[in-house]
Amino acid sequence: MNILFAASEAAPFCKTGGLADVAGSLPLSLAQNGDRVAVILPLYHQISREWRDKMTFLRYIYVDLSWRHQYCGLFSLTDQGVTWYFVDNEQYFKRDRLYGEYDDGERFAFFCRAVVDLLPWLNDMPDVIHCNDWQTALIPVYLHDTAVCHEDLRCIKTVFTIHNIEYQGRLGAETVEDLLGLHRGWFDDGTIAMDGDVNLMKAALMTADQVTTVSPTYARQLHHGYYAHGMESVIGRIDGKLCGILNGLDTVGYDPAHDQTICANYTADDLSGKAACKEALQKKLGLAVEKDTPILAIVSRLVGHKGLDLVCQVFDGIMSCGVQLVVLGQGEPQYEDFFRYQAARYKGRLAACITYSDSLARQIYSGSDLFLMPSKSEPCGLSQMIAMRYGAVPIVRQTGGLNDSVHSCQVGQEGGNGFVFADYNAFDMLHVVEQAVGLYRGDRIGFAAVQHCGMTDDFSWTKSAEEYRKVYKK
Ligand code: GLC
Repeated sequence: MNILFAASEAAPFCKTGGLADVAGSLPLSLAQNGDRVAVILPLYHQISREWRDKMTFLRYIYVDLSWRHQYCGLFSLTDQGVTWYFVDNEQYFKRDRLYGEYDDGERFAFFCRAVVDLLPWLNDMPDVIHCNDWQTALIPVYLHDTAVCHEDLRCIKTVFTIHNIEYQGRLGAETVEDLLGLHRGWFDDGTIAMDGDVNLMKAALMTADQVTTVSPTYARQLHHGYYAHGMESVIGRIDGKLCGILNGLDTVGYDPAHDQTICANYTADDLSGKAACKEALQKKLGLAVEKDTPILAIVSRLVGHKGLDLVCQVFDGIMSCGVQLVVLGQGEPQYEDFFRYQAARYKGRLAACITYSDSLARQIYSGSDLFLMPSKSEPCGLSQMIAMRYGAVPIVRQTGGLNDSVHSCQVGQEGGNGFVFADYNAFDMLHVVEQAVGLYRGDRIGFAAVQHCGMTDDFSWTKSAEEYRKVYKK
């Protein structure tokens, strides 16, 4: 099969979150199994010179969107069996950041229109275009619109994956014709309209041939208002074409046995390197060098749905367990300030790194004993899987992909790889943190068994890529 994967970010080219990990690793796994796979991305200013030097300029076209007539360059490179295409327009993509610009709606409408207009110029005409999140949500709409007069586009099918339904791409109703270049009928018949606005995610849910989301539990949760952010009625209507597939991980890229960014390598059967990583982390972050004090880590975007209000609520209780706490991430000022303030209170026991750094994240995963992820909602979550690969035992709330990847080792449960709590309640979370620290301190053999379980679990793409293949076949 011929798959074109459209995304707004993909590792190792450009990354702000988990979507980039998926877009960077699922295509490789599909290609290894014999499918022809290409990925198409915006050519952001942030993509390094090193990658740009490997690209070939293929051609340019002009993309028409309403009254706009815009240059659109097409570059490509081939890496590990996958063709990577890059859509060039400096006005839209030479910015200080990937998203959060005043004209994101226009930038990604351009990207979607460009993907459809460039189809005849790609090496292969795809059988399926796999779109991801609101930034690529207009592709199925433009494809339907264009295929009316272009027979060769009519047999292309689309899959849309929801990575997080919270970010829907809402624009004012006046954008339909003037900015999106669509006939008003798309709005009036409700296909792209929601609560009086244009809603790009809804547009894709209504027009894609198949819809997936990134874990089976999240697929079920999306039927409820609490998780669906107002989209539950739309989800109800498209239930027949929706399924949940748990994300895999790039298990080669995230492997403590070979990772070059950590202080010492180790495997599930020989954790001596992990002890060296812990000592190096304590030294690097100014924590007391104590080998028997458990390090609890949080590596996360510091935003509401990650459950940080629970952490704030029982913060002193967590510290009273006698842990060292390491926090890495950036996001909402209230959380950034909270952790900075607490770091001053708990000198030598709390390190707050208010930044984003891939190498520091890996050093934290490898140096920590426990990993806290109390998300309010979590479509899939990759950090809990990375933590497990690196032998940091996860403590998570039972939601979305956390529910599908972390299995409780609490009293009476066999073969668990972490600690879980169900209710979104700070004291329930504190209780399992205490349990986890208790196991670490009181039963090192028991703790090592849980750690071993997580390190040897199969988080590779093999199974999930097979599930995607079934969806494409449909
Ligand atoms: C989004 C979700 C996260 C998921 C990732 C990749 O960032 O919030 O849960 O792991 O996408 O699908």
